[in-house]
Amino acid sequence: MNRRVFLKNTLGSLMAFIGISGGTYYYSRNIETTLLKITEETISSPKINSAFNNFKIIQFSDTHIGFHYSLEQLQELANKINLQNPDIIVFTGDLVDEPNHYNWDSRLTTILQSMKANHGKYWIYGNHDHGGYGTDIVHDVMEKSHFHLLQNNHVSIEQDGSTIVIAGVDDVMLGKPDLDATLQHTDPNLFTILLAHEPDFVEKTFSYPIDVQLSGHSHGGQVRFPFIGDLYTPAYAEKYVQGKYILNDEKLSLYVNSGIGTTRLPYRFLCKPELHVYTLKSQMS
Ligand SMILES: [Fe+2]
Repeated sequence: MNRRVFLKNTLGSLMAFIGISGGTYYYSRNIETTLLKITEETISSPKINSAFNNFKIIQFSDTHIGFHYSLEQLQELANKINLQNPDIIVFTGDLVDEPNHYNWDSRLTTILQSMKANHGKYWIYGNHDHGGYGTDIVHDVMEKSHFHLLQNNHVSIEQDGSTIVIAGVDDVMLGKPDLDATLQHTDPNLFTILLAHEPDFVEKTFSYPIDVQLSGHSHGGQVRFPFIGDLYTPAYAEKYVQGKYILNDEKLSLYVNSGIGTTRLPYRFLCKPELHVYTLKSQMS
C-alpha cells in the first residue's frame, strides 16, 4: 500500500469514526452541489489556424439527472451556457443517473434544445448512458435536442476555409471504443480534439494524432480534502482525476471536467460542479 492510499484509508476511517459535523454535512449536501465553477482554459497550438482564433468550446459532463439533480437546475445551467455564446457545446456523457428508473420528461428535451452554439452541439456516451438499458433512449433524447452523437467517428468543423476535427469514442467501460475507426480519413495535420468519457483512456490516445482530450467521469472525486485530494474515484478515472494534464512529451493536453451532478452519494466537498470554457488561440496570428 503506497503512502497516498494509506493516508486516504486512514482519513476515511477517521471521518467515519468521528462523523462529519452537521454543518459540513449540510454544506456538502445542500450548498456545494448547487454551486457552479466556470473554468476558463486557453488552448494554443501551431495547428490552430487564425480562422479559429478565439473559437469558444464549452464542455459540460455527468449531469446524472434524477439523482439529486433536477430539470430546474439543468435549465439554470443552460442559461449560463448560453450567456457564454459558445461556438461549440460538447457533452461528455452520463446524462441521467439510471436510465431504466428515470421518469423521462419532455422538458428535458426542451431544455437541451434551448442550448445554443454557433457551430453545433456534440455528445458522447458515458457508462451510465449505456447502463440501465439507456443506449437507445438517451440517443433519442439527445438527437431530438439537436446534439450530434460522436460514437467512434468525427466531424470536421470549418470556418473561413480552415478546419479542426472534433472526434468522439464510444464509452470505454460499457461500449466499444475504437480509435482507428474514430480517426479514419482524418488529416493528422489538422488540430484534433477527442471526446472520451473516461480520462484514463488517454494513454491509449498517445499513439494517435490527437492534440486535446476532453473527459469527465471522475466527478473530481466529488469529495476532496486539503493535502489529501479525493478519497474515491471510479474505475478508469483513477490516474487522471481533475483539471489539466500535459502528457506524451507535451504533444497532448488532457482536461478532466469535475461534472455537474453527483452519483452514489449526493455530496460535493471542495469539488464544485464545473463548466469548462475553452478558448482556442492561434499561434499564427
Ligand atoms: Fe461515468
